[in-house]
Formats: sequence, structure tokens, C-alpha cells
Amino acid sequence: MRVLGIETSCDETGVAIYDADQGLCGHALASQIDVHAEYGGVVPELASRDHVRKTLPLIRQVMEAASCTGADIQGIAYTAGPGLIGALLVGSTIGRSLAWSWGVPAVGVHHMEGHLLAPMLEPNPPQFPFAALLVSGGHTLLIQVNGVGDYRILGETLDDAAGEAFDKTAKLLGLAYPGGPALARLAEHGKRDRYRFPRPMTDRPGLDFSFSGLKTFAINTWREAPHDDQARADIARAFQDAVVDTLVIKCRRALKETGLRRLVVAGGVGANQALRGRLKQVIKEQGGQVFYPRPLFCTDNGAMIAYAGYRRLQAGQSEPLSIQARPRWSLETLSVPG
Ligand code: KG4
Ligand code: ZN
Repeated sequence: MRVLGIETSCDETGVAIYDADQGLCGHALASQIDVHAEYGGVVPELASRDHVRKTLPLIRQVMEAASCTGADIQGIAYTAGPGLIGALLVGSTIGRSLAWSWGVPAVGVHHMEGHLLAPMLEPNPPQFPFAALLVSGGHTLLIQVNGVGDYRILGETLDDAAGEAFDKTAKLLGLAYPGGPALARLAEHGKRDRYRFPRPMTDRPGLDFSFSGLKTFAINTWREAPHDDQARADIARAFQDAVVDTLVIKCRRALKETGLRRLVVAGGVGANQALRGRLKQVIKEQGGQVFYPRPLFCTDNGAMIAYAGYRRLQAGQSEPLSIQARPRWSLETLSVPG
């Protein structure tokens, strides 16, 4: 079975083809950084319009590169939510319509299910069950994953997502959108102990997160600091250390409380090298193992949607002739396919 995957939930257009026997046959991304950079963040209407321009040409490009025609595709997976409604509608309309014209089934994929299954595309994929830390621009979740579609939320953020906190702090320090990767680069030049930020909600039991206080802490620290390059780098470093420490503490706790030994880390912040390094070391010390997608598949992409859709389509799941787009959608409401 060969599945075409389409991702358009936010500010990246992603397309990929996943084949049951050959694995990933091709993928491509069109980033919207240039479209949104001058506004300092994602402008939903501009995102939708850019997806309209990019999605079909990207599908053509990926299919040509994989020497595929419509006759070679047995199913289509598109991101049905959560995300920006206009952006979602572009991918779901194109995906559903192509599936109808090619006479193949279509399935609407949950974006976060795509993220948490992304390590399955790597050479040494994790076995179920595992715990998953999903850290993106819109979500921060700790989940117990018993199998495809069988998810229990262990903890989540009560306010800002980890990626959102990265982006807001980056903006404060004068870094351009998208701030997360830029802040991480700046932090490399920062000194370790000049500033110390709190590790929110780690001093009490539970697996929930709160990151909005860190942003406020950054604002106050910046206000009192000399406005020079070293202070910016030192604040970036202190902020990143605090987020990484907090995530590491909660991941250790999640493994301890559930008795699970495998941890998957995915979503945009999962591309952060400081987080990857620390988690790998700490979880290994605890006798566990961490699984990551390659950094390119931590952030939004079509490959994870093609793969998640393949898992559902090959189990016989398909949908009627209607277009699905759900801006809000809880992972816990998903069904186990088959
Ligand atoms: O998963 P993703 O691509 O999109 C959403 O589904 O939200 O995540 C994007 C988020 C943004 O907040 C971005 O700043 C953050 O992930 N991000 C990073 C890094 N790369 C992306 N944050 C910290 N360090 C990075 N290297
Ligand atoms: Zn995402």
C-alpha cells in the first residue's frame, strides 16, 4: 500500500509518500517563513492562501520525484486538525478531492498523532507501549501511548506551550520569527550561571506544565540587564536551561509513575539539541531509552502524516465523502483502527 500524505495545519506545507514495503519514497516541504516574518508571527489568512498556492505543485513535485502517478497511490492522508481552520481546509479539501478522483480511500489524521508516530520512520523505531513528550508551538503534552489510537494524557500545559514560550521570549530578545531555533542558536553563546530562571511546577507532584511565568521572568530579567549581546545570550541560555530542565524532570517522573521504559520526544521543540542531549543522557541513566524523529521530522512535515494515515488505512479505516477539519481535537477521543 502506498499513501500520499498532506500537511497544512499551520505554516508549513508538507507532502510525502509512504510505501508499506519501501518506507518513505519521497517528501518535500514549503516553508512560509518569508510570508510571516515581517509580522513577527503566523497570520492565519496568509497561511491559508500560501497553502492554496503551494500544495498542488508540491504534490506534483513529490510524485514526479518518486516516479508515481495517481494509479500508484492506494490512499490519501491529510491533516484534519488541530490547527488553523483555513489552513486545515486547504489540505483536507485537496486530499479528499484527489482521493475521490483517484477512487481511493482518504483519512483525516490528527496532527499530534502524526508527531508522536514520527519516530517510526527512523531505522530503530520504538515498540509500544511508550511515553511521549509532544512539544510543539501549540501543544505540550505527556502521553501514554499503548498503540495507534490508544492514548492517555498524563500531563499538559496549563497555559503557554513550550514552543510558544520559546517564540515569545525570542521576540522579546529581538530575534526574528520563528524564534525557537534562533533562541537556541543564541543560547549557545550564553554563560551558564549568570541568570537562573525557575523550573515551573517541578516542586509539586503531577505531570502538568506551565510556561507563561518563564516569559514574564525573561521580561523582568531583560528590563534589569544591560542591553548588550552578552546579556541577550545569557538570558537565552538561562531560559533554555529552565525549559529543558523542566521537561526532563517531568519526563523522568512520567516514566517512573507509569513504569514505562521507552520515551518518544517529538514536535518542533524536539529538534532542540540541548533538550535532545540532556534527555538522552538522563533517561539512559534511569535505565530507559529515548526515541526521536530526525530533526527535520520533529517540526511539521508531510512524512509523519503519510505514515500515521498509512497505519489507519491499512487497518481498514476510511472516511465517507466529507471533508474533515477540526481546529480543536483531543487526542484521547481518537479510535483504535481495525
Ligand atoms: O511542531 P511544530 O513545527 O509546529 C506546531 O505544530 O506547532 O513546532 C513549532 C514550534 C515553534 O514554537 C518553534 O519555535 C519550535 O517548535 N522550535 C524550536 C526549535 N525548532 C522549532 N524550539 C526550540 N529549539 C528548536 N531548535
Ligand atoms: Zn506540529
